[in-house]
Amino acid sequence: MLFLYSILAVTLASLLLNVHGQSPDELYQELFVDVQLNRIFKDSKTFSDCIPLRSPQQILELYRNRTVTNFNLTEFVQKNFQEPPPPIELLPEHANWTIVEHCHRLWPYLIRNSTTSDSSLLVLPNSFIIPGGRFRESYYWDAYFIMLGLKQSNYSQLISNMVENFAYLIRKYNHIPNGNRDYYLSRSQPPFFSLMIELLDSIVDEDLLVKYISELEQEYAFWMNNNGLTTGANRRLVQLPDGTKLNRYYDDISRPRPESYYEDYHTANNDTEIYLNIRAAAESGWDFSTRWMINETDLSTIITTQILPIDLNCLMFNLEQVLSQAYQHKHDQSKSDSYAQLADKRKEAIIKYFWSDKENFFMDYNFVQGTHTRSISLAAMFPLWMKIATNQQAKHVIDKIEQLFLKDGGLITTVSENSHQQWDAPNGWAPLQYISYKGIQNYEPTSPLIKEIINRWMKRNEQVFEKSGKMVEKYDVVNMNLDAGGGEYPTQVSLKFI
Ligand SMILES: *[C@@H]1O[C@H](CO)[C@@H](O)[C@H](O)[C@H]1NC(C)=O
Ligand SMILES: *[C@@H]1O[C@H](CO)[C@@H](O)[C@H](O)[C@H]1NC(C)=O
Ligand SMILES: *[C@@H]1O[C@H](CO)[C@@H](O)[C@H](O)[C@H]1NC(C)=O
Ligand SMILES: *[C@@H]1O[C@H](CO)[C@@H](O)[C@H](O)[C@H]1NC(C)=O
Ligand SMILES: *[C@@H]1O[C@H](CO)[C@@H](O)[C@H](O)[C@H]1NC(C)=O
Ligand SMILES: *[C@@H]1O[C@H](CO)[C@@H](O)[C@H](O)[C@H]1NC(C)=O
Ligand SMILES: *[C@@H]1O[C@H](CO)[C@@H](O)[C@H](O)[C@H]1NC(C)=O
Repeated sequence: MLFLYSILAVTLASLLLNVHGQSPDELYQELFVDVQLNRIFKDSKTFSDCIPLRSPQQILELYRNRTVTNFNLTEFVQKNFQEPPPPIELLPEHANWTIVEHCHRLWPYLIRNSTTSDSSLLVLPNSFIIPGGRFRESYYWDAYFIMLGLKQSNYSQLISNMVENFAYLIRKYNHIPNGNRDYYLSRSQPPFFSLMIELLDSIVDEDLLVKYISELEQEYAFWMNNNGLTTGANRRLVQLPDGTKLNRYYDDISRPRPESYYEDYHTANNDTEIYLNIRAAAESGWDFSTRWMINETDLSTIITTQILPIDLNCLMFNLEQVLSQAYQHKHDQSKSDSYAQLADKRKEAIIKYFWSDKENFFMDYNFVQGTHTRSISLAAMFPLWMKIATNQQAKHVIDKIEQLFLKDGGLITTVSENSHQQWDAPNGWAPLQYISYKGIQNYEPTSPLIKEIINRWMKRNEQVFEKSGKMVEKYDVVNMNLDAGGGEYPTQVSLKFI
């Protein structure tokens, strides 16, 4: 009996380990906390990515055995861990590339693989592109926009490899984690997988909708999983009093994020609700933004999990549509119809809950209070991008984009200027410029505003590139002489060719 039980226990433990991994804060316990709170590294992410030089259990035991007098934590860490390699910043190619050439030539320097792992890194079958800087691994929603760039550079095999990586992650972990690190496993990111499949499908001959149908379905089930509860909010699904089902961002853990341990610890002051809401905002990709906050200058008033976001629900609408098409291709009309119905319902709900007659704009919805939030943001462009808005609504939204969002360097992210959060004004982000001009194109293809957005954004990018030889992850689009700022880490830059 004992033997049987221990086999069972070992099997269960390995299953759990397999499903959840063990993040560095779990592995290193009080050592992790002490390293982070004593700021042994400037960036909390560095220690979370360190490679242990002996077994984690042994390191922890050594730490617990330490003699208190003359103990030096920095030296202990140096002796027992290898730091992740610092990002390459200068590339030994002497040339005066144009900004476009720069983009085409950058990819080879950003290709990585993780076919084996000796740290928090998750193993992936194929190579992939990393964003760069402190972001040394694959990221979920970033990858869609990276793929758009790879397509322009004719790297279609790499797109295909990256799509297969994400399919693998769905099969292995039941969802696509925020990034391929074990400490990212408890959350996802904006669900762009169906858009990636559509993008790759437009490049290759194979029917990818059919090939990836079970992964598409598995991702859908992940977002719609409410642990069997049919009312209220559970995990990522919210059921409203009228029966409408919509999604929210969530995280399955409510502790400080290991990669931002010091920051979260000081923001939340040990309040698990705040940790959860910070993590849910990290799942949104808009970390952080006044979209999620009650008090615009106080991050601890973050309430992400009370909010039904416009963009997330538009992406879920796309997933439902792609599933419907995929079943059409498989000649399974009844399943195709049922996903088409879900998409129709979602479309109705988006109009019903997110459209505000008062603001003439799409607004996020706080389902706990039963009202729109105050935030006016570019998330309102998603219903235009997905062709959900009526012509009349689109016209109002486009007017407001021109009046409130269009600045010298492109479109600001929200109209909030004072938060010092990175997903607010005065910052502009590339994915949102793209979604905005695509959205306008769907309704007013000849609008001069489209050219205006593209020209102003490109001018701003080129201006910084000419000055510095680099591109950056976000731009201050209001003050053309200032660098973008805000947020919890320094602005990340592209490599520079010298
Ligand atoms: C920690 O101390 C115990 C008791 O002294 C000892 O048995 C053990 O080997 C030590 N562990 C390590 C990793 O040095
Ligand atoms: C600990 O060790 C580091 C690296 O050798 C050194 O820079 C630091 O001053 C030491 N700290 C103390 C408190 O002695
Ligand atoms: C790049 O441009 C600068 C200034 O226009 C020029 O001085 C330099 O020689 C050029 N370098 C190369 C490798 O062409
Ligand atoms: C994986 O990356 C390592 C170094 O980063 C490189 O040496 C190796 O060739 C790569 N492997 C593949 C299969 O690309
Ligand atoms: C990609 O391929 C197309 C079609 O062959 C070609 O016109 C274009 O110049 C290529 N782009 C790059 C960056 O190589
Ligand atoms: C944080 O809260 C946990 C229980 O929720 C408690 O065990 C721990 O001591 C608290 N830590 C601090 C620093 O207050
Ligand atoms: C918002 O937060 C700031 C900074 O913590 C504080 O000074 C201010 O009083 C708060 N405003 C409101 C309306 O609570």
